[in-house]
Amino acid sequence: MKQDIRILAIESSCDETSASICENGKILSNYIAGQAVHEKYGGVVPELASRAHMQNIIPVVHAALETAGTELHAIDAIAFTQAPGLIGSLLVGAQFAKSLALALDKPLIAVHHMQAHVLANLIEDPKPEFPFLCLTVSGGHTQIVLAHSPLHLEVLGETIDDAAGEAFDKTAKLLGLPYPGGPLVDKYAQQGDAKAFTFAEPQIPDLNFSFSGLKTSVLYFLQAQTKANPQFVQENLVNLCASVQHTIINILMKKVKKAVQQTGIRRVCIAGGVSANSGLRSRLQQMGQEQGWKTFIPSFQYCTDNAGMIAITAYHQYLGGKFTTLDAGPSARSEW
Ligand code: KG4
Ligand code: ZN
Repeated sequence: MKQDIRILAIESSCDETSASICENGKILSNYIAGQAVHEKYGGVVPELASRAHMQNIIPVVHAALETAGTELHAIDAIAFTQAPGLIGSLLVGAQFAKSLALALDKPLIAVHHMQAHVLANLIEDPKPEFPFLCLTVSGGHTQIVLAHSPLHLEVLGETIDDAAGEAFDKTAKLLGLPYPGGPLVDKYAQQGDAKAFTFAEPQIPDLNFSFSGLKTSVLYFLQAQTKANPQFVQENLVNLCASVQHTIINILMKKVKKAVQQTGIRRVCIAGGVSANSGLRSRLQQMGQEQGWKTFIPSFQYCTDNAGMIAITAYHQYLGGKFTTLDAGPSARSEW
């Protein structure tokens, strides 16, 4: 096998267009273009996301190559996010990657977005040893994953309705905050009292999660309170954010604790957009100290959607000989 392995990876599953260059498992660049166009609609508009990917993809790939100090002809493989995601968004990245692979006559690697979120924990030191547990919390998914090896991941539990990111975004919307509300809830929560209000936590068996009930209980609570005081939300915004965030973190961390008890694995990672949440990050560290776990948290640029995580996953697929053919198509569904 060739000594140096240089991979260009492309991520376009939702509303971030991203490209990354990875050399022998080291990320040399991770360029991410967000899409402000969705803000005024209160959520991602799939058609607009596809169009924005079309506009962004070439400049983003150029920027990633330039930052890494490399050129297309020096790339050994092209990787792209195959699933899951918005189909129109995935198509742009997949078609671009396939065209490049064809034009450059390089191998093609199809990457699963949720596997990549987990493997984002392998980008920086200290890296977890296998096996480890990962709580993957994003806008579309909430999973507890047992990582046996880079290419062998097992989902131990997942949400039966909304994802944790959706719980943040939907309650933020009820509080009048713009999309995506998660980062704003995080910001306001830092000034609030997490015990000011109590919201019921669901009783879901095994290692599965449910978040739709939280959204409904926040909705009914706000309806009742604003009837008595129309200014209730404005007057209590920071405490509401802190209390909602506290409830979401409680729901997540109870299941993580249960997963550690069930598996006996004490290396615990978090991943996905919600792992950027400062409350979740500090709670994981605190629980790690209390419970004697080794905890791992990716830096912010590798939490939310990024091509760096696609590149590191593709690197392990390259080592494992897991390539795809030019007839590979993207899939909106999340089966592994
Ligand atoms: O992983 P990601 O970038 O995209 C998906 O694959 O879905 O996750 C996006 C989600 C959104 O719901 C966003 O509100 C949430 O991550 N998020 C946060 C924070 N930063 C991003 N939620 C809470 N606190 C944050 N700091
Ligand atoms: Zn994601």
